[in-house]
Amino acid sequence: MNTLLIRGGRPLYGELRCPGAKNSALPVLAASLLVPGETVIEGVPAIADVESSVRILRHLGAICTLRGNELSVDAGGEIAGAVPEELMREMRSSFIFLGALLSRTGRAEISAPGGCEIGQRPVDLHLYAIERLGAKITHEAGVIRCEAPSGLTGATLHLSFPSVGATENAMLAAVLAKGETNIENAAREPEISDLADFLNAMGADVRGAGGSSVRIRGVTRLRPTRHKIIPDRIAAATFLLAGAITGGSVRVTDLIPGHLGPVPELLERTGCRILTDETSVAVTAAKRPTSVGTVRTMPYPGFPTDIQAPFTAMLGLSKGTSVMIETIFESRYKYVAELTRFGAKIRTDARTAVIEGVDRYHPACAESPDLRGGAALVLAALAAAGESRVSGARLIDRGYEHIETTLGALGADIRRMD
Ligand code: EPZ
Repeated sequence: MNTLLIRGGRPLYGELRCPGAKNSALPVLAASLLVPGETVIEGVPAIADVESSVRILRHLGAICTLRGNELSVDAGGEIAGAVPEELMREMRSSFIFLGALLSRTGRAEISAPGGCEIGQRPVDLHLYAIERLGAKITHEAGVIRCEAPSGLTGATLHLSFPSVGATENAMLAAVLAKGETNIENAAREPEISDLADFLNAMGADVRGAGGSSVRIRGVTRLRPTRHKIIPDRIAAATFLLAGAITGGSVRVTDLIPGHLGPVPELLERTGCRILTDETSVAVTAAKRPTSVGTVRTMPYPGFPTDIQAPFTAMLGLSKGTSVMIETIFESRYKYVAELTRFGAKIRTDARTAVIEGVDRYHPACAESPDLRGGAALVLAALAAAGESRVSGARLIDRGYEHIETTLGALGADIRRMD
């Protein structure tokens, strides 16, 4: 079940609906702990990271019912303050429970999430934020204990980097704190705005989300609500790249095109044709993509680091040489060694990849090193005429719903092997 068998070399054609955003669903699920009642979250993607979050919520005492893409979370009962290490280790983003647990229970006991495939993933900015809000933090054998028995107090926070997770944890800790919190140099990703919309629908007072300064006035209580997760801009960009890399034409609907940032324009610059309306983006592939010079990953609204790997897979087939510079994570090129098995000519040095375009990829057997690197390998296999295998599919399942069914609906010959 962990290997995808892909017979590539055929263009993908068709239309698909954009799923709900993984990176919005995860903080929203954590935020559902803030209300002693039942919240209903629609548009939750059916992915492994959501299943991990539901396991954590249930362990903490919430009653969760998942019906397709709709999740109800009843956090009306007693909520525990500690997440065991084995649940924390299931995914990096389990650290997002910190702020919500502190606000709800006055304490949080979680293990340092540790590094992962794409970098060391420190949490110093998260801890800086909650310490500034008054939490007492102790470390013991890999467990981080945070205490705020008499609640948290608003403060001004200056993030040295616009960290998505630290911004989210600060928001979750501040919404029930006494007084006002200002988060300066906050992350501006659409998922931050979606979390703010969810919190405000529950009765919080969050202003300025989506900008670099977020102001939160603490309230005394929140009420249950219903919320629909925004579309997943990273999944959408991945599926558009599947159309582009296979010489096909793919349209993604139920999308917020503005959330794709510079990706559509970059695809146009490779020679693809892009059609955009209010809720969809369609790509028609170029005969052969051309290089776009240098691409640099940046915090939103710059080029998203989560699309670095899939985009590099496509640049590997372009005319000319391109340069990719990964400015967000320090080791997000592990997939490149696997991509060269398909015939890609890419040299990496720390955060820079020099991509010398080749005419075509040949089939290969490759191993996914991480979620987005795995997606890049699937794209390469779709472009390579013949039979390829991509193992480590469970890593891909962390962020993409039923990847073989989704791509199969576009004409891909892809199946999961036992
Ligand atoms: C979120 O991770 C996303 N995950 C990532 O998506 C995404 O790549 C990343 O934001 C950047 O957009 C979720 O939302 C669940 P960061 P996060 O804190 O919050 C440094 C995917 O594939 N940093 O913005 O962990 C950190 O080392 C995943 O869907 C600190 O130094 O990202 C990194 O270099 C991968 N100290 C940079 O900031 C901290 O305390 C960006 O990290 C926190 C972060």
